[in-house]
Amino acid sequence: MPALFDPITLRDVEIRNRLWVAPMCQYTILEWDGVPRDWHFVHLGAMAAGGAGLIVVEASAIVPDGRISPADTGIWNDTQATAWAKITAFLHAQGAKVGIQLAHAGRKASTWPDWGYGGKTGSMSDEEGGWETVAPSELPYPDHRTPRSLSRAEIHDLVESFAAAATRAVRAGFDVIELHGAHGYLIHQFLSPLANSRVDDYGGSVENRARFLLQIVAAVRSAIGENVPLFIRLSATDWVIGGWDEEETATVAGWAKLAGADLIDVSSGGITSGVPIQVGPGYQVPLATRLKSRADVLVSAVGAITTPIQADSIIRADQADAVMIAREFSRDPHFALRAAHELGVELSYWPPQYVRTHWPKEGAKQSAFNDG
Ligand SMILES: Cc1cc2nc3c(=O)[nH]c(=O)nc-3n(C[C@H](O)[C@H](O)[C@H](O)COP(=O)(O)O)c2cc1C
Repeated sequence: MPALFDPITLRDVEIRNRLWVAPMCQYTILEWDGVPRDWHFVHLGAMAAGGAGLIVVEASAIVPDGRISPADTGIWNDTQATAWAKITAFLHAQGAKVGIQLAHAGRKASTWPDWGYGGKTGSMSDEEGGWETVAPSELPYPDHRTPRSLSRAEIHDLVESFAAAATRAVRAGFDVIELHGAHGYLIHQFLSPLANSRVDDYGGSVENRARFLLQIVAAVRSAIGENVPLFIRLSATDWVIGGWDEEETATVAGWAKLAGADLIDVSSGGITSGVPIQVGPGYQVPLATRLKSRADVLVSAVGAITTPIQADSIIRADQADAVMIAREFSRDPHFALRAAHELGVELSYWPPQYVRTHWPKEGAKQSAFNDG
């Protein structure tokens, strides 16, 4: 069995280890133009210098109306792509590979950013700078505005926008494309019967609810060619009886693999609010492991994975092919270097600038570090 610091190759991309950074919205674009700036450079750059194998950058909107909030990043125009290119170049120079999560928030769009606006939360009205939201059906997310139901022509246009964003992302230097199909955002809204009451061929049976996702997978695969890995983040369950569940996830993951997807990034929840979820260390890992065996797909596990030994044992026990971590990497951008040290793994990619900061070998004199 491989271990945490063993490389993995997906299509033409070799990733130096299996300890990856999960996407994390920063809600930082004060100009509301979706263009990443210095914060992203430093935030993501530190994790690349800190030894992460793959860094998947935050949910980035494929069209302006697809943003969760106006402070989100985007990848719907070339100005944004040029700004991302500066970031991907630096991350590559540190030896990391870089992915981008392509997103549309659907009925969860047009909300106040997490911070920076006087604690305002929930939907943003038109007067405040918000916009009309769209979804498979006119079913609102609790305490959000009621979305307008998408026409078939609009669905077709969105599939094209995902493909155009993927093309732009590859030109900007991203090595991996991830589709955000989880957490109650647009793709998940189509998948889940709790948000999709359509009576055309995008609603009803699991084949119909999966149609939007599978059309996006096919369009993105054809846009990015055969060499670039394509991931999908899925909520494996809504944690609600009558909602999207693990069985449907396995069925659709199998179809997605046939349509050109390479790995499922397994998360859960988000389609509605107030659902009690038993959160504890590695609480979503069993979802990833069951999906891996049921659908014969590569998976990454995410959620409350915080220690090196925990991450390493998930890989060694073949519970997942990679581990994604969000909050622990935010708390400690050099988590991967620390993990390697704690697991006794010698890395060939310890940053030369930090060689003298490597934890001293037993018995080394502290004075040896005082030069310069
Ligand atoms: C600040 C923050 C922003 C997040 N943004 C995203 C996002 O853009 N896309 C996404 O799929 N998940 C997002 N998540 C969820 C994380 O990717 C991850 O699945 C979750 O935090 C559980 O992993 P952890 O326990 O390692 O933090 C975010 C989480 C945090 C803490």
